[in-house]
Amino acid sequence: MKIVVTGGAGFIGGNFVHYMLNKYDDYDIICFDALTYAGNMETLEQALDSPNFKFIKGDISNVKEVESLFEEEKPDVIVNFAAESHVDRSINNPGVFLKTNVIGTQILLDACRKYGIERYHQVSTDEVYGDLPVDRTDLFFTENTPIHTSSPYSASKAGADLLVQAYYRTYGLPVTISRCSNNYGPYHFPEKLIPLMIVNALNDKPLPVYGKGDNIRDWLYVEDHCSAIDLIIHRGTVGEVYNIGGHNERTNLEVVKTIIKELGKSEHLINFVTDRAGHDRRYAINPTKIHSELGWSPNTKFDDGIKQTIKWYLENKSWWENIISGDYKNYYAKMYESR
Ligand code: NAD
Ligand code: DAU
Repeated sequence: MKIVVTGGAGFIGGNFVHYMLNKYDDYDIICFDALTYAGNMETLEQALDSPNFKFIKGDISNVKEVESLFEEEKPDVIVNFAAESHVDRSINNPGVFLKTNVIGTQILLDACRKYGIERYHQVSTDEVYGDLPVDRTDLFFTENTPIHTSSPYSASKAGADLLVQAYYRTYGLPVTISRCSNNYGPYHFPEKLIPLMIVNALNDKPLPVYGKGDNIRDWLYVEDHCSAIDLIIHRGTVGEVYNIGGHNERTNLEVVKTIIKELGKSEHLINFVTDRAGHDRRYAINPTKIHSELGWSPNTKFDDGIKQTIKWYLENKSWWENIISGDYKNYYAKMYESR
């Protein structure tokens, strides 16, 4: 089987490339990635040694580049991770989110129609459901929760999901969609909460917590997300949406304090800063459908996964030091200095 992983030089896509190469030695895995600020060839170093892996630099919002990918590689499966993924950046600059997340998805879908495909899988997010009240811990997102987005990022992801469903209904394209909660683990770009806090704490820099730190996220170790997508592309029902999450809800402050404790740092590093505009309060996934239909369950509990993640950042300093010494410096100054 030949699988194209778009966005495979990013956090989750990179982990998925490694997961699939380790699990299937007879599959060809092709990473198609534009190498934006979030794409990193160092993430793919190990994969590049494999004879079953190929990297192609390309942009999903460029018709020519996408069509030549299909003409040359004739993939059986597309797993679309490629996206602009950071909510804060979408608040400052929505345009590129629409271009990549919506138009890029449409261009991939059109290529699938033109050249044929066994399965197109869209990697979506629980953010398309909006948020849940913090004080209603009995409520969870199911696949039937209405789409109700908050940020330009989540609106663009929801737009993409609706297009994927339209191509299923109108053209019969064999699609599946997964909507996962917050991931964490190796190769996570240090603009996102967990890696940002680990990297800042290691450098004894302030830890910028938005608002009071009482927003809740439902954390999933990235390898568990990869195993869920693997199951969906092989055994998921065409046309269906699957939620992915493992009931690991934590407030942001709890997460930050856990990282501080693991690293032996002081809570004085915590710096409460101006809240994110439109900040979603709580995400929480009900994963019953993927559990009962496909037998998926997560393997890693948050308390173990966070330790493994911190260990990875301690052992792979050069990976993140290369990032924070480059353009990221300007981003950080713009995002946090006047907060
Ligand atoms: P990321 O920002 O780490 O990586 C995105 C990758 O896509 C990068 O390698 C980047 O170079 C590439 N890319 C961006 N624009 C592109 C384009 N136009 N053409 C080709 N490649 C392009 O993102 P991530 O956190 O790994 O998220 C991957 C996917 O999973 C996204 O679709 C995101 O919406 C979804 N998701 C993320 C999370 C999470 O917690 N990170 C949770 C649920 C769903
Ligand atoms: O739920 C899935 C989504 O999770 C994905 O679709 C997104 O791609 C991914 O980025 C993530 O979105 P969040 O907005 O939840 O993740 P982020 O790491 O940006 O923020 C997590 C929480 O931490 C959120 O409540 C905001 C808060 N936060 C974040 C940063 C970067 C802070 O308090 N301080 C910070 O500096």
